[in-house]
Amino acid sequence: MTKKLYIQTLGCAMNERDSEHIIAELAQKESYKLTDNPKDADLILINTCSVREKPERKLFSEIGQFALHKKDGAKIGVCGCTASHLGSEIIKKSPHVDFVLGARNISKITQVLHTPKAVEVDIDYDDSTYVFASPQTMGIKALLNISIGCDKKCSYCIVPFTRGKEISIPQDLLLSEARKLAAQGVKELLLLGQNVNNYGVRFSVPHERVDFTTLLRNLSEIEGIARLRFTSPHPLHMNDEFLAEFARNKKICKAIHIPLQSGSSKILKAMKRGYSKEWYLDRVARLREFCAHEGVMDVGIGTDIIVGFPGESEADFEDTLEVVRAVEFDTMYSFIYSPRPHTSAYEIESSLLVDAEVAKDRLARLQNLHKEILAKKSQREIGKIVEVLIENHHTQEGWSEGRSDHNRLIRIVGFVGEIGQMVRVRITKAHGGSLSGEVV
Ligand code: 5AD
Ligand code: SF4
Repeated sequence: MTKKLYIQTLGCAMNERDSEHIIAELAQKESYKLTDNPKDADLILINTCSVREKPERKLFSEIGQFALHKKDGAKIGVCGCTASHLGSEIIKKSPHVDFVLGARNISKITQVLHTPKAVEVDIDYDDSTYVFASPQTMGIKALLNISIGCDKKCSYCIVPFTRGKEISIPQDLLLSEARKLAAQGVKELLLLGQNVNNYGVRFSVPHERVDFTTLLRNLSEIEGIARLRFTSPHPLHMNDEFLAEFARNKKICKAIHIPLQSGSSKILKAMKRGYSKEWYLDRVARLREFCAHEGVMDVGIGTDIIVGFPGESEADFEDTLEVVRAVEFDTMYSFIYSPRPHTSAYEIESSLLVDAEVAKDRLARLQNLHKEILAKKSQREIGKIVEVLIENHHTQEGWSEGRSDHNRLIRIVGFVGEIGQMVRVRITKAHGGSLSGEVV
């Protein structure tokens, strides 16, 4: 008999991917179908994020709400990073929860489902060679995670504690999965890892030496895969060989997320990022040089920035603004520092903490600066011709929408294309940060 699954996913693309794995495992092995109504569900799953404190704090009120409205006999499971972080405490605090499944234990979903009050959060668990069931429906874009865990020790980050040490997924498995996806009509792959360009440092099976650059090259040779993207690389591991392949390989989209975190070398050191402001700017300059050498004049650069890290002075924050002005990021995710347990920054003395109002003001200034930059950059896009992969269309209103190679979302006016179709578009208008154009 078919049962219904409701799943709520918070956090990063890795969590999205974990949810996809869970949905596919439950569909194939337990006959679950997705519902978007929790009141209808036989199983309610909350796939959580713990990178900042706020969503974690909301978890218990959410469980309470689901418990109040759920069907009689329906189960509630908590998975993801908060599950790893809080473990059995979740069941102690909330008796409505039937099982807890850590971010590194996702392949055990069918086991915990049948074990009352199961808590599976082993941080050393290794499912890097586990072959998950395939999703039942496939779009034109697919996520593919190439490694699990993270070996970095960034002083603000709880992820190494929730996802454990870094292990790469064997290349053969990745290539065969990518071929399977291509055969199902996937055109664009988004490779995922906490630190993608550290690929190949550790495998849990005997393995030939393969680095991220080689993996990219091998994946790009698969017929049917038209575009490759990846997130997130670490600026420290962006060597020239990688930048050259990025620039040269036509299938690698010319958009890259390079988390800056701070523009101040002093704060970067306190964050244990392993690079300086100068190193970061040099890598961006090299990237643009390599791309220009290949005739690619536009490369989309995205970033993550934390403001209000302990000890951040006004001058340090000015350094961050300076980098933002210099690089002119195309996308920027920005956050106020949130102290997290199990991180080394959590122990920093309280006299160094940045006042909450000051941090809020810095975040607003940073975001305003970025808005101005984006509006200016968008104006410069007018007249350019770009390749767009159509992801969405509206027959009645007569438009399509998709992303350019350099990752800008573009509305194509007066054209209803097929989803998955690649079209050449001239950009004709920019409104704030958004772009529209017409087919040429
Ligand atoms: N506080 C605020 N932001 C954080 N991030 C990671 N840890 C914290 C924290 N403790 C941000 C970083 C990271 C993104 C996923 O979340 O910018 O790149
Ligand atoms: Fe993703 Fe990190 Fe949040 Fe876990 S804590 S879901 S790895 S962003």
